[in-house]
Amino acid sequence: MSLPWCNFTKAIVRQIPSTLAGAALRREEPTSPIDLSRARTQHDRYVKVLRELVETVVVLPPDDAYPDCVFVEDPAVVCDRRAVVCNLGHASRRGEAAPIRDALRRLGVSCFDMSSDATMDGGDVLFTGREFFVGLSERTNQKGVDFLATTFSDYPTHTVSVKDSLHLKSLLSMAGPSAIVVADTPAGKNLWQQIVQSAAHQYECIWVPDEKAANCLYINGTLVHRAEFPNSVKIFESLSCRRIEMSATELSKADGCLTCCSLLIT
Ligand code: GLY
Repeated sequence: MSLPWCNFTKAIVRQIPSTLAGAALRREEPTSPIDLSRARTQHDRYVKVLRELVETVVVLPPDDAYPDCVFVEDPAVVCDRRAVVCNLGHASRRGEAAPIRDALRRLGVSCFDMSSDATMDGGDVLFTGREFFVGLSERTNQKGVDFLATTFSDYPTHTVSVKDSLHLKSLLSMAGPSAIVVADTPAGKNLWQQIVQSAAHQYECIWVPDEKAANCLYINGTLVHRAEFPNSVKIFESLSCRRIEMSATELSKADGCLTCCSLLIT
């Protein structure tokens, strides 16, 4: 099935600032420090893969004042050439939105700024092409959900409660037009139950044993997934779609994942 959502033509990414390794937000201290050079090599490959999959990739320069600015998914939610520009849930990240808004406008996307009492990180928003699921989390509040629901009122918006992870998409992501890959963990199972209870459409669930493997990119028929988790890779290998494997060990140490590093535009 071909949904307009599956036909991305453009992507926005942002290079990694030199402050990432020391100052990016993280829920837990990683067992080894972030290797900045390796992070940049892995990110370069990510951008190269995006260039294979969409026509235009806009690469924004980094800003050392914002250690998390590589995670461009969080400052905006784009759908059908409209974008909600978020008040990011963590105060240290608020300034990341302005250059993203400018880049979106240059690409012809209409931007809608949230009211000041609303907060949202794009990592809490799963768009399936038919409906939105938005995680109420440490970063996203009900007013943020309400703003998104009003802006994209042509689609249903459902709220789910995110516990034990940073974002909704830390535990699940789209893996096909009707398929959602979900971490086979108590938190992932809880989210999947909430989705099944509220969804207007029926989705296939692809369970993966590794939490960090549950965040994939599904772009124009290709599934981009993490390479570092052999048991989850076996499950991806059994799917019939085209696949690209990718390592993201370093950004992962700052709770980054594959969807976090791009904004996709149809
Ligand atoms: N390090 C990503 C975030 O916490 O927003």
